[in-house]
This record gives sequence, C-alpha cells and structure tokens, in this order.
Amino acid sequence: MSAMSARAPAAPGIDVSAVRADTPGCKEVLHFNNAGAALPPRAVTDAVLQYTAREALVGGYEAAEAAVGEMQATYDALALLLGAQRHQLALIENATRAWDMAFYGMPLARGDRILTCRSEYASNYLAYLQVSRRRGVRIDVIPDNEYGELDPEAAARLMDRDVKLIAITHVPTNGGLVNPAEAIGRLARAAGCYYLLDACQSVGQMPLDVGAIGCDFLSSTGRKFLRGPRGTGFLYASERALAEIEPPFIDGHAATWTAADTFELRGDGRRSRPGCDLAARAGARRTPARAALAASGCRAARPGTHALRDRELRVPGHRSGSGQSGAGTRAHQRLRHRCRVDPHRHGQPRHSLARPGIGALLQHRGGGRCAGRGRRGPQFCELHL
Ligand SMILES: Cc1ncc(COP(=O)(O)O)c(C=O)c1O
Repeated sequence: MSAMSARAPAAPGIDVSAVRADTPGCKEVLHFNNAGAALPPRAVTDAVLQYTAREALVGGYEAAEAAVGEMQATYDALALLLGAQRHQLALIENATRAWDMAFYGMPLARGDRILTCRSEYASNYLAYLQVSRRRGVRIDVIPDNEYGELDPEAAARLMDRDVKLIAITHVPTNGGLVNPAEAIGRLARAAGCYYLLDACQSVGQMPLDVGAIGCDFLSSTGRKFLRGPRGTGFLYASERALAEIEPPFIDGHAATWTAADTFELRGDGRRSRPGCDLAARAGARRTPARAALAASGCRAARPGTHALRDRELRVPGHRSGSGQSGAGTRAHQRLRHRCRVDPHRHGQPRHSLARPGIGALLQHRGGGRCAGRGRRGPQFCELHL
C-alpha cells in the first residue's frame, strides 16, 4: 500500500492516508474495482448496520420515521454535489431504474428519433431497441471523433425536428473516455429536445453541475465513486422535465387518489401544479442503504470531487496520450480526458488479476453492440490505485 502511495502523490484537499485509514477494506485488499463498486468508508457500513439493527428493534416503519433527517441529508448532499435542488432528486434502487424512470416516461411516437452514442451503456441501448420496436421510433448513433468521444459536430449534423431525445453515457463503463456532456447540452437546448445523461460512472469521480451540462435528466448510482452502499441510485430532473414528463408508472407514494375516478400527481410545497416533486413521485422510501448514502462521499460534495479529479490527473501516466503499459494493463493512446474505468463485465471473457489481497476483474474488450459498428473506443482497461 505504501508503494502505491509513493507512486500517486497526494493532491491538496484529500488526505489519502486518512481516507484509507477510514476504509476498513484497505487493510484487506488492493481494490482496483472502484468503478464497479468501491470499498465503502466505515461511516457508510456503520450507518447501514445501525439502521438495520434499529429496524430489528423497533420495526421497519418506525425506523423509517426516525430516519427522516438522514434521508433529508442524503437529498441535500446529492443536490449540493450536482448543483441541483432537493426537490429535483429522486432516490431509486439503482442507476438503471433511475434511468428507466426518465426514459420510459418520454413521450416518443412513431417517426421520432433518439440520438445516442457508440459508447452507450448496453442496458440503455436495449431500452431504445424495445421502444423502437413498440412505437416505431428511430435510433441514430452519433459518430465518434478521432479521440473516441462522441463528436458534437457530427451530432449537430444529425439534428432535425424529429429528434425528440438525445440520450448518452457520460463516462462509458469501460475504456475510461469522457464524452462531451456540456456540448451535447448546448445542442439539446438549441433544438428544444430532451437530454438524458447516464452519469453512472462520472458522478463523484469528477465535478459535475447539472446547470452547466444542461441535461433534463441525469441518472447515477451510490456505490461507485460516492462509495455509498449498493442498492442506491438516483435521478435528477430539470424544472422543465418535472413540469412536462410524467413518470412511466405511479403508486400511492407518487399520487393522491382524489375521488373514485381521479388522481393527482403529488407536488411539493413550493409548486402548485401536480407532479412536481419527483422524489415523492418515485416513492421516497426510506431504507438502510438510502439513509446510509448520506454518510458516503456525496457528503463531501463538490470540493471533494475537484480534489479527486486533481489527484487522478496527478497519477503518473494519467495524461492524454501517455499510452503507458503495465502488468496486465495498457492505456489507450487516443483518449483526451481519461478517467477510471470499470474492469469487470458480465458475460465477457475475463482475465482476472484477482489473487489474495488484490480485488480486480479485468475485461479485454468494451461491451455493447455499437462497438461492432465502428466504435473507436479502447480495447484495454487501465487500472490505478
Ligand atoms: C454507464 C453505466 N450506466 C449504468 C450502470 C448501471 O448501474 P446499476 O447497476 O446501479 O443499475 C452502470 C454500471 O456499472 C454503468 O457503468
């Protein structure tokens, strides 16, 4: 571990030794798989265990009642992290369901077009295929530029009045590239179409501001760079999205049954129209994992992500075009903005670095069928501590 510290100089803002000391797993393993699921800090595990113990002692609903403050803290921390407001956030069980709540609510009809990227997350692309088959929607894939990022100029050339949604992945699961989320936001705003950003791999890893990005929806998870518990995801929705997009399904947490044949989507205190409070509409249930998210890296909020990004950039070889090779890993030379990557992929041949004391599963190739249609993404993963 100390050898690793020597290779990765500490950046101002992160006391790496203190962070490691506060992460019990660091004593057990060299964990490479933070982009899959990070080792949680002690506070997160304690919060989950304490909440679970409370449930066992007083009952689930009673424990939930007592956790109102922790839940508010989670919403507030996420809002600060993303430059959003509490009522624009919904806590959901994972990133995929958060994304689904946005995508399946889109008012897409025959002839409408979805623009996406070659490096789109495979589950998202499957959803496009399903909606395309059901409703006759067309899917168009934005070409990459020479760096393997989606090309905003090519995206601009694909725009027309039929494009109702641009949906992309900010940092693809594998490969470590960063797609130009803000440029796509400018394009979507100019066209007036919806913009859905899968930020599962970027939240917590780099500073993000939903206002600067200009997305209508942003989905992410708690268990990666926020080091929260598994079973936590969240969705941000812009004011426009809150006003215009209905969730794909509702329940008693989301709406009020006002008379025998009427209902009203819930709103929050500040908004008079129904259906404003996405958190309420998505069913803001209190669970151990969700309450414990407040204890995770999202508490560090934006200063933390700036410091983390700085540290990432200071790791030797972590600059554009360095293309270093190492034991079992090779960096991709073309990437301009590299970041950490998920070395684990289900259903793919795996080359495991795993041995006692090392936590890593390394994949050889990026997933997703768009890769076969000419994605110029990297073939190898790069691992840093
Ligand atoms: C880009 C991206 N989107 C979505 C997901 C799905 O996250 P979850 O398992 O929390 O649904 C992942 C998981 O690794 C991912 O890398």
